[in-house]
Amino acid sequence: MFFLSLLFLLLAFGSSIMSNGLGIEDFFPDAKQNLTKITWAHAVNNRNYLNTTLKDDDINMIEADVIMGTLKSENSKNLLPVMGHPPENVSDLSLQMFLDQVKAFNLNVTVANNTRKGVKLDFKSTDAFNSSIQIVTTFDKENFPIWINADILPGPIDAGEPTVDAKNFFKGANLFPNSILSIGWTTQYNDSNTGGYKSSQISDMVDVIKNNKISQNITFPVRAGLAAQSIDLLVNLTEQVPNSTLTIWSSLEDNVDTEKLRLLIKKNGLNKTFIDVPRELLEKLHLNDLPNGGSPLRNPIWFIALVMLILNFGIN
Ligand SMILES: *[C@@H]1O[C@H](CO)[C@@H](O)[C@H](O)[C@H]1NC(C)=O
Ligand SMILES: *[C@@H]1O[C@H](CO)[C@@H](O)[C@H](O)[C@H]1NC(C)=O
Ligand SMILES: *[C@@H]1O[C@H](CO)[C@@H](O)[C@H](O)[C@H]1NC(C)=O
Ligand SMILES: *[C@@H]1O[C@H](CO)[C@@H](O)[C@H](O)[C@H]1NC(C)=O
Ligand SMILES: *[C@@H]1O[C@H](CO)[C@@H](O)[C@H](O)[C@H]1NC(C)=O
Ligand SMILES: *[C@@H]1O[C@H](CO)[C@@H](O)[C@H](O)[C@H]1NC(C)=O
Ligand SMILES: *[C@@H]1O[C@H](CO)[C@@H](O)[C@H](O)[C@H]1NC(C)=O
Ligand SMILES: *[C@@H]1O[C@H](CO)[C@@H](O)[C@H](O)[C@H]1NC(C)=O
Ligand SMILES: *[C@@H]1O[C@H](CO)[C@@H](O)[C@H](O)[C@H]1NC(C)=O
Ligand SMILES: *[C@@H]1O[C@H](CO)[C@@H](O)[C@H](O)[C@H]1NC(C)=O
Ligand SMILES: *[C@@H]1O[C@H](CO)[C@@H](O)[C@H](O)[C@H]1NC(C)=O
Repeated sequence: MFFLSLLFLLLAFGSSIMSNGLGIEDFFPDAKQNLTKITWAHAVNNRNYLNTTLKDDDINMIEADVIMGTLKSENSKNLLPVMGHPPENVSDLSLQMFLDQVKAFNLNVTVANNTRKGVKLDFKSTDAFNSSIQIVTTFDKENFPIWINADILPGPIDAGEPTVDAKNFFKGANLFPNSILSIGWTTQYNDSNTGGYKSSQISDMVDVIKNNKISQNITFPVRAGLAAQSIDLLVNLTEQVPNSTLTIWSSLEDNVDTEKLRLLIKKNGLNKTFIDVPRELLEKLHLNDLPNGGSPLRNPIWFIALVMLILNFGIN
């Protein structure tokens, strides 16, 4: 008994100091155990904005939307994956150009310099996703983080059906084993229509993950205003799904209960929570006085070791 508890103590200690794989924390070492340090540029959907974002040393992750559309410069009716947000359907930046440019930029900066960027691609339709698979595959082995995002399930407050089919999404995403899958719910939010994620929506997500073979790490993009009303459900979700995190996002005009949102971040842990919200909301969150990580006892191995030690002393 004593040796068993010693073994679990060693395991717990080992698992808390070990850093495995080339994950996001290896790419952005400053954010180790505090993912809220990772900074975001949002809707980087045209050449001009991409250029200024790449030059901005304060940005770590570039979020951008992928739609089917035509390229301005080509003056052709050829539909291809381009950067843009619906209802747009014309862009000066294709997905291929976007990824080429990020890759070239990252190759050009030294690792020590730490101004390299990762990308989060938000696919707006099954068609846009399907047509992008081939392109994204060729970047999967490049040494920068690629997040594959889509709303794959219907979300709170009559948010409507997802425009990316879940089964189709997972099947395609299998071809990017090195990516992080960012899978969320559709949302609808305004002052007269607040609310939160429902427990049935959370279990639908758990089911869809179980029913599809997924090898990548998962992050759940959740809308700040809704997430703040669903603290326990979301903390439970990241506890249930191994290697998963939350990515909290918000629209500029969303009314958010900042105290509750702080509590969510605290309970879920700075090491399991990415924050991509407008500056004004970010400042209200006062992240500097939140403790790092959840309670150490959240790690089940610590818990088992502790219980065994107590039992051990009880028996002697
Ligand atoms: C979690 O991540 C670790 C390190 O990359 C990996 O060894 C493990 O298989 C992952 N677990 C799951 C369930 O994905
Ligand atoms: C997956 O998550 C685990 C921690 O939960 C981390 O150690 C690993 O580096 C992550 N892998 C990637 C590819 O992000
Ligand atoms: C953006 O940068 C690329 C590569 O450095 C350059 O070819 C292009 O002209 C720039 N575009 C704009 C709109 O600044
Ligand atoms: C793009 O949208 C415009 C305006 O809604 C529409 O007239 C046009 O047919 C669309 N183009 C394509 C290629 O779908
Ligand atoms: C690479 O770095 C050089 C020197 O800083 C710069 O002139 C050039 O534009 C950079 N290329 C890319 C693709 O960022
Ligand atoms: C890192 O890159 C930035 C932008 O290109 C440059 O201003 C800075 O001097 C570089 N720092 C180091 C340590 O190379
Ligand atoms: C996407 O591709 C899958 C096959 O991988 C196919 O079954 C599906 O119909 C396609 N959907 C669209 C909208 O292109
Ligand atoms: C708020 O959301 C509800 C429910 O989706 C919608 O019917 C209503 O039109 C929205 N109100 C505003 C002001 O956008
Ligand atoms: C957490 O999820 C599990 C599995 O779905 C469920 O049995 C449990 O009741 C949940 N706990 C809370 C606090 O929601
Ligand atoms: C975590 O990161 C945030 C954002 O940079 C910072 O304000 C906070 O002080 C950090 N907290 C810890 C415990 O490292
Ligand atoms: C997050 O921090 C807590 C508390 O320090 C720790 O138990 C847990 O293993 C950490 N999780 C990850 C994914 O690093």
